Amino acid sequence: MITISKDGKIITLHTASTTYQMAVGPYDYLLHVYYGPRVESDMSYIISYVDRSHSPNPYEADYNKTFSLDTLPQEYPCYGNGDFRNHAVRIQNHDQSYGICLKYKSAKVLDGKYSLPGMPAVYANEKAQTLEVILEDAVSNLEVTLLYGVMEECDVITRAVKIRNRSSVSVRLEKAASCSFDMLYGSYDLICFHGRHGMERIPERDSVTKGKRVLESRRGTSSHHMNPFFILAQEETTETHGECYGFSLLYSGNFKAEVEQDQVGLIRCMMGLHDECFSWKLQPGEEFTTPEAAMSYSREGLEKLSHNYHRLIRHHVCRGPYKTTRRPVLINNWEATYFDFTGEKILNIAKQAAELGVEMLVLDDGWFGKRNGEKAGLGDWYVNEEKLGGTLAELSEGIHTMGMKFGLWIEPEMVNEDSDLYRAHPDWAFTIPRRKPNRGRYQLVLDFSRKEVVDYIFEQISFVGERSGVDYIKMDMNRNLTDIYSVGAQQQNQGVILHKYVLGVYDFLERMLARFPDILIEGCSGGGGRFDAGMLYYTPQIWCSDNTDAIDRTRIQHGTSFGYPISAVGSHVSAVPNHQTGRITNIQTRAVVAMAGSFGYELDLNLITDDEKELVKAQIKDYIRYWDMIQNGSYYRLTDPQVNREIAAWAFVAEDRSEALLNVVTLDAHCNAPIQYVRLRGLDPQAVYSMEGTEKKYSGAALMYAGIQVPELGGQYQAWQVRFYVER
Ligand code: GLA
Repeated sequence: MITISKDGKIITLHTASTTYQMAVGPYDYLLHVYYGPRVESDMSYIISYVDRSHSPNPYEADYNKTFSLDTLPQEYPCYGNGDFRNHAVRIQNHDQSYGICLKYKSAKVLDGKYSLPGMPAVYANEKAQTLEVILEDAVSNLEVTLLYGVMEECDVITRAVKIRNRSSVSVRLEKAASCSFDMLYGSYDLICFHGRHGMERIPERDSVTKGKRVLESRRGTSSHHMNPFFILAQEETTETHGECYGFSLLYSGNFKAEVEQDQVGLIRCMMGLHDECFSWKLQPGEEFTTPEAAMSYSREGLEKLSHNYHRLIRHHVCRGPYKTTRRPVLINNWEATYFDFTGEKILNIAKQAAELGVEMLVLDDGWFGKRNGEKAGLGDWYVNEEKLGGTLAELSEGIHTMGMKFGLWIEPEMVNEDSDLYRAHPDWAFTIPRRKPNRGRYQLVLDFSRKEVVDYIFEQISFVGERSGVDYIKMDMNRNLTDIYSVGAQQQNQGVILHKYVLGVYDFLERMLARFPDILIEGCSGGGGRFDAGMLYYTPQIWCSDNTDAIDRTRIQHGTSFGYPISAVGSHVSAVPNHQTGRITNIQTRAVVAMAGSFGYELDLNLITDDEKELVKAQIKDYIRYWDMIQNGSYYRLTDPQVNREIAAWAFVAEDRSEALLNVVTLDAHCNAPIQYVRLRGLDPQAVYSMEGTEKKYSGAALMYAGIQVPELGGQYQAWQVRFYVER
């Protein structure tokens, strides 16, 4: 619900249990008042007007030294009007000067949730509301519209900003954050999700101290290295107690999140497009729209905050037929064969998988062009029939005849120099004039900021897709962007390329969804290098990491779960010794870990033992029994793998709390070790839960408050998965 007070000065947004408030302050500056638990009153009294030396006063404040933009909490601070703290928007005016001064003009409430053309945005039914607040700079005639979407039941407020040049001369937009948020006081920690290839989204928690901390990607994708999601939590906040705020950017390219504590302890944080190498010329009448950010607040700890984002992404970001329905259990040939396969070998892998209950085969990299290794073929999207020993349609038919679906890997944004495409269009790859480009995995990046490039690749790939009856696509992206120069842009417009590239990727994906409305697209970028809420608008699941080691995965998936639902996590059982770490774990442990995601296999099932084959059959049956709880239920982090070195534990609880699935993996093993206990959460305390496969019964309260001991599992890397259910 959004309300505007009678005098038009107080604007309040309510979700089910939170309130966000702003006020039109003196001289029409828009001030931020409050974001926290739901409160039904005007709280603008908490803003203090204090004379602080060296904080300037706007001219219109006359000789009032207590009014300074350098000390007040603001809704969308700008550069160049006397606030020395971080700014959300920076403009270079036509006369080359920097600076604008945004003042409140009007606000209106609209039914439904706004959308952002060409970009991902949270969507909702008509019950959602949008707030549009218009700010303007009278001198430059620039109009800034702050958009807010209220997602009541998820306790989420979305933000985006539109900047329109209403003057008769051009200006340059040099920075435009999607959201900015000022907190008057408090001791907070910043939790970021950093990582590297093969070890993505590892939480790191540090106190917010004076000065500024920047979380960013400058790699052209949202990156393995820092995720566009962060949390501000009070120092005492834990999984289940305390206040915290989440910030998630629905964007898949360069981003910048900044958290700054000012001279008197106010914390300002913001998030949006990265301003490095960003410069967007706005001609008279033109408008720029930022990507969207989704903010959430919880006073019940990190778990509740995660649940808010899980619900938001599952129901209001992901789209398509697979949004809440079960995804097929798949087998992917990558770690089974790498580039070394024939059609016969693939059919052989598929046959064994089908016999064990697998429902889809995904043909990974290497089916097209001269792609027999990393050095050639990318960009040539025609089937290598010689390698397959037939057409792709025949292979797909062979798979379909086994009763399985057929999936295909693509990497549309890339080109090898050794490809027909590159030979024909060398200027389609990013290269700086007169310089040699950097290679990454022997490949160059196609300039997706150019429509003709996207058009061509889209036509090539959809031609193959249509003729081969694909049910699923894995869309990969295996290097970061360098050598940014587009021959398609005018020379003075190179500052738009990085953003236009991302818009090109979104355009490609939107067209794929329109051309193939029934297929499931899985995102991927060298594993989880583009794992963000923006991609999830197009691809409801993303290959979480190229690291398939079950033990490392407990950490990666734990970190990922803070901002993203389990349904978004692609996770597979692979061979041992694990190809990335060399670690040996048993097939049950690998399956229990992979079930905390969209489940599949990535090995040649012909090569496992007969006993293991029986286990695989049972695992698939179990997953199919549990999937609704896993995908659509609530996820609970029961241990923190950075703290608890003995076990990793997590649980899924069905929405109606009638069943729960507890998962435990042993990590370090010790002689004469203490017994490990876990306490479940989210159960009905009054209900009596039976432990599947035993005669044991426990009350929900007992399982949650007394806990349960982990049985002796026989050492390191063993798994225990057990279902508790209420008998009907
Ligand atoms: C990336 C992906 C892998 C696989 C390879 C193929 O690394 O993350 O899963 O598809 O590319 O080249």
